[in-house]
Amino acid sequence: MPVIVFANQKGGVGKSTLAVMYANHLSGVKNKRVTVWETDVQKSIYEQRKDDELTWGKENMKYDVHYIQLDTLQNSEAMMVEAKEVYKDDIVIIDVPGNITDNYIAPLLIYADFIICPYMYETKVLQSTTTFIKVLKKLKKMFPEVMNPKILYVPNNIDPREGTTKELEQRMQVDDIFRKNGGGEVLPKIHQRADVKRLNTYMNTQKQEYISSACFSQLDKHILE
Ligand SMILES: Nc1ncnc2c1ncn2[C@@H]1O[C@H](COP(=O)(O)OP(=O)(O)O)[C@@H](O)[C@H]1O
Ligand SMILES: [Mg+2]
Repeated sequence: MPVIVFANQKGGVGKSTLAVMYANHLSGVKNKRVTVWETDVQKSIYEQRKDDELTWGKENMKYDVHYIQLDTLQNSEAMMVEAKEVYKDDIVIIDVPGNITDNYIAPLLIYADFIICPYMYETKVLQSTTTFIKVLKKLKKMFPEVMNPKILYVPNNIDPREGTTKELEQRMQVDDIFRKNGGGEVLPKIHQRADVKRLNTYMNTQKQEYISSACFSQLDKHILE
């Protein structure tokens, strides 16, 4: 089964959130075997899981969450080999930290089957995402034999109020750049909703499934078919 990496060098774009929401969707709605590996020192998923085990019982969890500390390039590479070989029956979802320069994360991007890159339409986020795309391109040039991920961009945390015509035009231009320059597909957006903030690692609420349904059904097509 594929190894899916949620990455963008910008923090706060929804990498951990979407990783968990998609893990809940695959395990709860699609009945798939899923494992989540968190590599961000913030351990937000891991801490949430501890709470969820207390609330619903450890034995009821539908997937495992592991925290893995990235400390050397070799260990990161070994982790990806393990994901592909030892966990080959699972969909492995990896939450990658921001700050991709010095955290030994290159192997995660090189060996991933899918790179899911959440972003928002804000100048700083767009700048960082552009840098991230450059990093991906550079890595691809360095490792053309091994690196061949499908890259999927997800506009996340989008204000549900319709923007002005000009704003909408700008968004479309951004999406176009990611498609052409970023070598990937732009998936349907996910709105900014309070329900997304009430996320746990046990299962999605109906509202959470609804909020993510357009995006996740596209994702499912790539990942499950
Ligand atoms: N679609 C959304 N609607 C509302 N809040 C969101 C949404 N996506 C992310 N958030 C919130 O934004 C913050 C940053 O998200 P997080 O997943 O931690 O980002 P990252 O892992 O990229 O640093 C969190 O507080 C999260 O609850
Ligand atoms: Mg995070």
